This record gives sequence, structure tokens and C-alpha cells, in this order.
Amino acid sequence: MNDYFPILAIDGGAASGKSSTSKAVAEKLGFMHVDTGSHYRTLTLALLRKGIGLDNIDLIPAKLSEIHLTSVVKGQEARLAINGFVPADKELRTQEVNEVVSQFAALPEVRQALFQYQRDQAEIALKEGFEGLVMEGRDIGSVIFPETPLRFFFHADPEIRAKRREKQGQQDKIEQRDAIDSTRKAAPLTCPQGATQVDTAHHTLGEVIQIILNAIRAFRNKVQP
Ligand code: CDP
Repeated sequence: MNDYFPILAIDGGAASGKSSTSKAVAEKLGFMHVDTGSHYRTLTLALLRKGIGLDNIDLIPAKLSEIHLTSVVKGQEARLAINGFVPADKELRTQEVNEVVSQFAALPEVRQALFQYQRDQAEIALKEGFEGLVMEGRDIGSVIFPETPLRFFFHADPEIRAKRREKQGQQDKIEQRDAIDSTRKAAPLTCPQGATQVDTAHHTLGEVIQIILNAIRAFRNKVQP
């Protein structure tokens, strides 16, 4: 990967504002957007359909070998296809998926299965002619692209985040997921060292987008020969 290609890493807990910001930045700057939460959700859905649940979670490592990952780019967005199939958003955000995704995502084998796939998204973005990559998740600045200088960590009051989720009409125990995500051994949700912290409860979406755009402008001024 060349040093001029901007890779923007946005991490944070559930409903912290990562998706709306990432989508808007991708649109404004012609970046490819990758939501790694949807990767974990897609894998979870595929495993649920193979009869895996919390009581037989130990079967996951063996089942992962039956799962083939590819990328489908549509508009600004790159989506994970499992065995050639990209599930619809609403299938990924059911209560059934919400309830087990963090337990599945805590397994090192599951994270390992996605590690190279997620790093490869930068090459895909470059090859597809995008101006950069914006990737959102829990461990992007800490594990997937720790080398990028464009690392952000979003947070907001839990009550505000719960309200945002309610507005989206979803049944989701976000505090419970955050607790599992923050305390797991493999790639826990944490603010990466040197990342810019943004409290999204105290800024409008427009202001948050501006903070990111300013950082990308500064990055470009610095790396451009
Ligand atoms: O939309 P929301 O912020 O609620 O969640 P998401 O980004 O769709 O992520 C769903 C779950 O996937 C998280 O609660 C984590 O357990 C897991 N995840 C992860 O472990 N690492 C990532 N990079 C992204 C998501």
C-alpha cells in the first residue's frame, strides 16, 4: 500500500455514530466504505444458519473452513459475501443476530478468519479507483490498520446511544454488547494509542464530519510530495 492512500480508521462502541459519519465522509471524498460490524454480523448469520448457537459455540472453528469470503462493491460500499451471498441489512440487524454477535466476535478464530480479508480492503479500494478507504469497527486502529495516522475513537453517553438505537427501531442491548466487546481478550474495544477521541454527543453530525475532513486535509498536505 502506498503512503499517499488515506486509510481512515473509525472505532467506537455501539451506536456511537460511526456509520453515519463514515458513510458521509465516503460520499464527500469518494472513499470506499467498509463497515466491519457487518462482517461479524454476516458471519454470525451464516453460523446461525448452520445450526450454531451459544450452546455449541465450540463448533465454530470447524465450521469456518466451510465459509468462503469475497467482496462485493456497490456504490461507495464494499460488502462481505459469504459463499457468494450478501445478506440484506435487515437480516443482519435482527434481535437473533444482536444477541450472539459479540460472543461469536470474541473468538480469536473468528477474528483471525476476518483479519487478512479486512486488510485486503485497502488494495481493493485502490484498484477500484477510490480516493481512500474508510473502515469502521472496534479494532481498526488497534489491530487491522494500526499504522494509519488517521485513527479516530468515537464515544457518547450510553443513554444517548440507547436512544439512537431505539429511534432506529431496533431491539439491542448495546451496553451488554459493549461490555463483552471491551473485556474480551482478542482485540478488545479500546481507544487505540494516539487516536483522536470524539465525543459525538457534544457535536452535531456536521461537526464530526468536519473534524474528520480537516484531519484528512492535514494528512494530504503532509504526505503529498
Ligand atoms: O451497529 P453497532 O455499532 O451496534 O454494531 P456493529 O458495528 O454492527 O458490530 C456488531 C458487533 O460486531 C459488535 O458488538 C462487536 O461484537 C463485533 N465487532 C467486532 O468485534 N469488531 C469489529 N471491528 C466490528 C464489530
